[in-house]
Amino acid sequence: MCGIVGYVGRTTAVQPLLKGLKKLEYRGYDSAGIAVVEPHLQVYKTQGRIADLEALFTKGVPQGTLGIGHTRWATHGQPSWENAHPHCDCSEEIAVVHNGIIENYLELRKELEAEGHVFRSETDTEVVSHLVEKYYEGDLGCAVQAAIAQLIGSYALAVVSSRHPNELIAVRQDSPLVIGVGEEEYILASDVPALLDFTRTAWVLDDGQVARITRESVVVFDQHGEQQKPQTIRINWDPVQAEKEGYAHFMLKEIHEQPRAIRQTLAGRLGVRGNLQLAEEIPADLLHGITDVHLIACGTAYHAALYGAYLLQDSTDLQVHAELASEYRYKRVRVDDRTLAIAISQSGETADTLGAIRKAKAAGARILAITNVVGSTLAREADAVMYTHAGPEIAVASTKAYTAQLCCLGLLAAYVQLHLRGAYDPELLRQLLEIPDQMASILQACEERVKEYAGQRLAAASDTFYLGRGLDLASAMEGQLKLKEIAYVHAEALPAGELKHGTLALIEPGVPIVALATQPHLLDKLLSNLREVKARNGEVFLIAMDGERDYSQTADEVLLVPPTHPMLAPLLTALPMQLMAYYAATARGHDVDKPRNLAKSVTVE
Ligand code: AGP
Repeated sequence: MCGIVGYVGRTTAVQPLLKGLKKLEYRGYDSAGIAVVEPHLQVYKTQGRIADLEALFTKGVPQGTLGIGHTRWATHGQPSWENAHPHCDCSEEIAVVHNGIIENYLELRKELEAEGHVFRSETDTEVVSHLVEKYYEGDLGCAVQAAIAQLIGSYALAVVSSRHPNELIAVRQDSPLVIGVGEEEYILASDVPALLDFTRTAWVLDDGQVARITRESVVVFDQHGEQQKPQTIRINWDPVQAEKEGYAHFMLKEIHEQPRAIRQTLAGRLGVRGNLQLAEEIPADLLHGITDVHLIACGTAYHAALYGAYLLQDSTDLQVHAELASEYRYKRVRVDDRTLAIAISQSGETADTLGAIRKAKAAGARILAITNVVGSTLAREADAVMYTHAGPEIAVASTKAYTAQLCCLGLLAAYVQLHLRGAYDPELLRQLLEIPDQMASILQACEERVKEYAGQRLAAASDTFYLGRGLDLASAMEGQLKLKEIAYVHAEALPAGELKHGTLALIEPGVPIVALATQPHLLDKLLSNLREVKARNGEVFLIAMDGERDYSQTADEVLLVPPTHPMLAPLLTALPMQLMAYYAATARGHDVDKPRNLAKSVTVE
């Protein structure tokens, strides 16, 4: 999820563009660039910080009053000068910046190359500049409209051309874009913070709308060419609130971003009819002849590894193990050239995970990375990479990266099954397409209730327990880690069936227990374990999926998640548990985004 700015107005464009880009730095990026029309197109790019981009202007600033800028968070292609935006057409008259993912870019690129277009980057974005060039017949807005009719995916785009020195074209589809309204000047941005130094009045573009922005006016059209009245907003956020899109913390913002993040994770990989498209990322020889799979990770990513191991064990005859990287590095393991090591890491820089995969690789294993960061050390050292595409995750507590990891693992399990058995469970993939909407409905329905429970019960507790059986145990482990790391409340996750072997001694009146009940074949067993808890007056908050069951004897509170394939339930139950941890932490007055003693990326052993 990159950052976009655009400017057309009375002053030279470079300063407002750089200023806007600086306001987007907090989001994280790997490269940046701007293009200014003066009167030819001038493009400045850097693989590095905005300060490096600024340094390119020490000898003079172009005087053009129209330009676009971008901070890139790599999705297709490594972080590099070539892959940094803006991207130009063959004639270098048109420049484009883009946020989102063009799912059909490979097909489009092949077609355009066959027609003679020459590409200079590995990005999905570059197809847009060549498409605009292809359809250009004197009207830039019409060319952009014709180009986007070819695109499948999500995008916010800003386009300029040296043939139109007073015209900025903007368009959005499933990716935000706002137009700040000034005095004879307009500033376009993907995020509100980039506008605040210019104006507090903005127009919000809707999906499918195209804006033709000049110094004098903004004209907005829908996909049929009908003129539209843009929606005006007054921005009351201060700059710090704006970075968080009005949320109190990045963690809360990232929890709420999950429906969008999962849509991005699925984009281009799972068609609307449930057809899998992973062959580009996972070549057949990566899976050919494997007998063992080691899923290796730390912390939250390890809980995703447990999930992935469960799915692969359930759907194949492979020997599958989830391994903590810090243990794997130093223990005796059977690993050879029939082993597929799947390393899972949000950052791709975790020292223990890197150490573990280096060990597996040295013993002959093939390495598949699942990571959120393009060009990270893990991505570079792996034989193949599946990116989570969750967008930058700023809060130390991982939320959207975790559910995006689960989503990748669901896709991967189906793909491995297809490769080894020639078929996969179509229902799982069909239901996976529903997950983003179901996540949105959970967030809407449960937040207030969870806030009340967490603020009153979890925040006041000294010990809590998270219980689950089967796949719910992996989810319970993630739930308890979240509570510990940001609320600093001791929590322990247990297989519900294990309680009676010792820990039941700690259950006394009022002890909070969060229990998960989404696995139909284990539901009766789980409920009987909960009766043991209720008999000791433990206080149970149950997150369940089956709305037909009577939970009155087993739980004090019940929160139902929408019905889905049991293997996908962890993508849904994660959300209320993330909110529980968040609201327990805020009730205790903690700095949620920067919990004590913890770092976002753990690059030491
Ligand atoms: C997650 O909330 C934690 N901050 C932590 O457990 C994290 O998942 C772990 O350090 C691994 O990080 P990685 O995914 O970047 O490798």
